[in-house]
Amino acid sequence: MGGIFGCINIAITESKDSNVNQYLSKALNTMERARGLTQQLLTFAKGGAPVQKTTLLFPFIQETAQFALSGSNVSCRYDIAKDLWPCIIDKSQICQVIDNIIINAQQAMPAGGAIEMSARNISIGDKEHQMLQKGNYVRISIKDQGIGISKKMLARIFDPFFTTKPKAMVLVSPPVTQSSIVMAEQ
Ligand SMILES: Nc1ncnc2c1ncn2[C@@H]1O[C@H](COP(=O)(O)OP(=O)(O)OP(=O)(O)O)[C@@H](O)[C@H]1O
Ligand SMILES: [Mg+2]
Repeated sequence: MGGIFGCINIAITESKDSNVNQYLSKALNTMERARGLTQQLLTFAKGGAPVQKTTLLFPFIQETAQFALSGSNVSCRYDIAKDLWPCIIDKSQICQVIDNIIINAQQAMPAGGAIEMSARNISIGDKEHQMLQKGNYVRISIKDQGIGISKKMLARIFDPFFTTKPKAMVLVSPPVTQSSIVMAEQ
């Protein structure tokens, strides 16, 4: 991968054509993602823990969402708390989570539309949450205007390889789908 990165960088330096440079920059961004994914696969292969670091979520999450939506007819509006806490995250994993949720939202609105993303600081008390311990967290909510997920399907969405996509979309449910991710704050 190092060789590919090096060659693309040299091509960017040598090229005077802005169109070509634009494509080369996109290639570099894609390579960055491939590098993150490879790193993650290596982490799992070694049975290692996620690579967690204290990170500012924005603009990183916004850039990830914009990248996932580039060239599509779906836009994203952001409502981010100004004093958002930095979080302890594995950047590559969070990048993938955002990427997948945004692509799901986009696929749920084939005729186009708007996604709303919000980010808030939240404090969770003792035994207040099924899975999270008491502490400070950042909650990211992502809402689309698509068909939504029926209650029956909702119970299955985390089953590995569960999908409704190759078949016709026949889900009937509320008009809005909202996903929330909560990340630990340092
Ligand atoms: N925003 C959404 N709106 C409506 N349905 C959704 C949304 N997100 C997920 N789903 C439903 O949950 C199912 C599982 O989603 P998941 O992302 O795991 O797989 P997929 O999107 O079908 O396939 P893949 O992500 O591997 O391309 C989807 O097939 C779809 O039925
Ligand atoms: Mg998906």
